[in-house]
Order: sequence, then structure tokens, then C-alpha cells
Amino acid sequence: MIVIIDFGSQTTHLIGRRIRDLGVKSEIILPQDAFKSIKKFSPRGIILSGGPASVFGKDALLVDKAIFELGIPVLGICYGLEVLGQMLGGKVAPGEKKEYGPTSFSLKKECSLFANWGKNKKDFKVWMSHFDQVIEPPKGSVVVGSTPAVKIAAFADEKKKIYGIMFHPEVHHTQYGQEILNNFVVKICGENPLLGTKKIEEIKQYLKKEIGNSKAVCALSGGIDSSVTAYLTHQVIGKNLTCFYVDTGLMRIGETEEIKNTFRNKLKLPLVVIDGKKDFLKALKEITEPEEKRKIIGEAFIRVFEREAKKIGAKILVQGTIYPDVIESQGTKHSHKIKTHHNVGGIPEKHGFKLVEPLRMFYKDEVRKIAQELNFPKEMVTRHVFPGPGLAVRLIGEVTEKKLDILKRADAIVIEEIKKAGLYDQIWMAFAVYTGIKTTGVTGDERKYGETIAIRAIESKDTMTSDWVRLPYDVLARISERIVTEVFEVVRVVYDITTKPPATMEWE
Ligand code: XMP
Repeated sequence: MIVIIDFGSQTTHLIGRRIRDLGVKSEIILPQDAFKSIKKFSPRGIILSGGPASVFGKDALLVDKAIFELGIPVLGICYGLEVLGQMLGGKVAPGEKKEYGPTSFSLKKECSLFANWGKNKKDFKVWMSHFDQVIEPPKGSVVVGSTPAVKIAAFADEKKKIYGIMFHPEVHHTQYGQEILNNFVVKICGENPLLGTKKIEEIKQYLKKEIGNSKAVCALSGGIDSSVTAYLTHQVIGKNLTCFYVDTGLMRIGETEEIKNTFRNKLKLPLVVIDGKKDFLKALKEITEPEEKRKIIGEAFIRVFEREAKKIGAKILVQGTIYPDVIESQGTKHSHKIKTHHNVGGIPEKHGFKLVEPLRMFYKDEVRKIAQELNFPKEMVTRHVFPGPGLAVRLIGEVTEKKLDILKRADAIVIEEIKKAGLYDQIWMAFAVYTGIKTTGVTGDERKYGETIAIRAIESKDTMTSDWVRLPYDVLARISERIVTEVFEVVRVVYDITTKPPATMEWE
């Protein structure tokens, strides 16, 4: 067992998930209780997570120094490295350059964290997100690696088995991140991996315990999370489950028909379709603030479910919430809230349901694997992620029928061309954004003041980080040409080339 001290990083839970992937148990604990919790769990290793605070700021979060005297190996990640620097006799200072996203790490010295490292792995891509940096390593430590902006990007005290790395090994975009964690957990801490977790059985048992013989409703969006949730719930409680799909009008072209077909004909799940187009548009009238949009949509969904559930006497709402929705919406004790996902922070406090969320601790790629094991149709497993609030968060400004229509037509072209180019399955998601920016164009020798559509295509594994896809120029050219000719209102098409962080995947 490994304990992870949570200083509030967006990716603390992801560290736990990576350790789970190694077949090892972990427990997330709070810095304030670290010593007590470590005594309770007797872990073989301690990981200090990243976090938004500064070690010398007034909100600095530190730990009881006694935990470093227990002889248990320690790995500090990002803010965790700064905690080690500050508490063990090194020095931390504000960085001159802030770094977010990818950078190159150079390994300068051999170290067991990078054991069995081939010569070709001396320089590799890592992901950072920090302000401060360590300018003097802790006493007894040596510097083992750096990046162009950070001289001390990794240090090690092999005798005490205390290590610090400035980058995040837990995010999928850090090259060799899992190997580094494996070196720490298995080689340095001496954990024995136990593989083959029985996830599906565990989920079913959880559902049985939470729902029992009661009636439940499940909110389907057509996406993989809610589909897996509904499918497993149906296996456990059968006829006591009613699935709803609300057509909000914020869905893409042809999506409602596709969802009906998949559920009724392929997965053989009973499905009630509710037409909510007018209600949702009315609720969103004059709303421009993204967080407000999400909350309104969350509320509108719940009110529809309440109304329908009342008809059949159900008091339980089963939702396909996954962990990234939770961490970005409400976070852990010390983490920052990034956005209110409609199904977590977005639902109103008062509602008449008991919520059951069996996938709350899972990541998207884990859910996809479960779907594969359940023999879901391939197109469902590989379907791009689509946010619960739908096109409302891909349309900047007030949501109107006219803007939605422009966005839907542009989006359909993006997806069509990406599919034609054979790139759809390699991409996390691709979509069009209605930017709301009017720009000048010239068509048929006439001035035209028209719309700007942005294209976003990104790759990711676990939602927490992403990179933009290097779409071939000819595919981008075809998308652009088709949008400006087929969607008459548009005069300009731009491509979004931002990583996450700092930009989230959706524009709102
Ligand atoms: P962001 O924009 O937060 O997106 O980087 C991460 C992933 O989550 C999806 N997303 C949502 N899904 N309700 C959802 O069900 C939401 O409110 C929501 N917001 C974002 C997004 O599409 C991306 O895949």
C-alpha cells in the first residue's frame, strides 16, 4: 500500500489510479493528518502530490516533519518536490518563468527512480504546471535532472530513499511516467503487484447494495459513461430501471435517432425519449456566463427527471459520473474548482433523488475497457466524448436556435471529414466551436461581415491533460473550404492549438 498526501492537485486521484494500474493499493490522505494516517496504514511508500499553493505563501500546506524520519521511501511530485525542498534543508523560490504543459526533461545522473533506463531515454517529454521552483536541493540530495527553465527538476537522496520530481509522471502525456511510478512503487518501495481487479463484479455489487429492490431512473446521454452505467444497472435491477434520454436541442445532427437505435435495437434497453428542446432553450435565454449555463442545464435535467420519476414512483437517480467530472467540479479538500460539470456541481442542491454513481472513481479509458468487456458495439466504445451540456458549452454567448443551427452544420462537416480521412478513432474528440466573433470576409466581390468557427481536435487518455492533434493540412483545408461554402453564415475558420493545461478541452 502506498499513501498519497493530497496537497490539492487536479491529478492527485490520477496518481492513485496509476498505482491501481500497477496492481497496487493506494490511499489518499490529507497533509494535516499525514502522520496519524501513515501510522494507521503502514504504507510501503509515501507520495506527496502537486497542489496549487506556494510553500512560502500564506496558504502553504506542509506536513509533520516526523514522516520523513520513518524510513519509508518518499516521492514528491511538483508541489510535493517543493515541500521536500522547503522542509528538508533546501531552498524554494518563485520561478522566473511559469511553465504549463509540455517541456523536455534531461536526465543528468543515474538514479533508481530512472532505473533500467535506456540511453535513448536521456531526454524526454514531460508535463509541468508550476510557479515556484527548488533552487537548492534538500541536504543529502543530488540533482538528477533538469528542464530548459528549471535547473533542479529532479533530485534524489538514495540513502534515505527520498526523491523529488518537478513534472507529473501520472499524466499520460509525460513520456515514461508509468515506468517512473513503477520504479518507485515496485522497485524502491518493494510493493508486490496484484493484477486482475474484478471491476465489473465490484460495480454490480455496489449497485445491488445501493438500490436493493427500489425503482430507479437512469439519465442517458448516449455517451459511454451513462451507457455502461445503465447497462450494468439493468443487469442488476432489471425492470425496476427506467432509462430516460432528454433531447435538449443541444445535441448534434442525427444524434437523437442514433441513440434511440443503439439503445433499443443494439443494447436492448428500454428507453423513454423526452422532448425538452423548448424548455432548455427557454431556460438558457439571455444567459452568457459558462458556469451559469452549466448550472441551468443541470437544473433543467433534474427537473425533467423528477417529473418523469414521479410518474413511476422512482426515488433513485443513477448517473454515469466519472472521476474527472468530480475533480474538476468540486475537487478535493485543497484543490481548485475548474468548472462545474453539469452532472456534479451543476445539479441543484435540492432535489428529490438519492444519487447512485457507480463509476464515480473511474476514468474514461477504464470505462471504455469495461464497455469492451461487455461487448458493446465498437462505434459506442470509440465514440468521441460529448459533454452533458452539449453544444451550449461549444457556443460562446447566448444560446439561440440560429446559432445552434450554424454550429451543428459546421460540426457535422468536421466529423465527416475526420472520419473520411480515417482519423476519427485516433482522436479523443474533434468538434466545431461557435466563437461568436464576427469578422470581415469577401464573397462574390461583396463585403460580408460573418461568423468565425473554431475547430478543436485533441488527444487525451484520461481527460486530465490533452494535446491538440496535428491534423494534416489537407484535412484542415477541406474542413475549412466546406464550412465556408456550405455554412453560408461563416466567413472564417481557425484551428485551436492549445494544450490542456492551460486551456480546458471545451471552450466553456
Ligand atoms: P474539459 O473542457 O473540462 O473537458 O477539459 C474534459 C472532458 O469532459 C467533458 N466535459 C463534460 N462532460 N458534463 C459532462 O458530462 C460536463 O459538464 C462536461 N464538461 C466537459 C469534455 O467534453 C471533455 O471530454
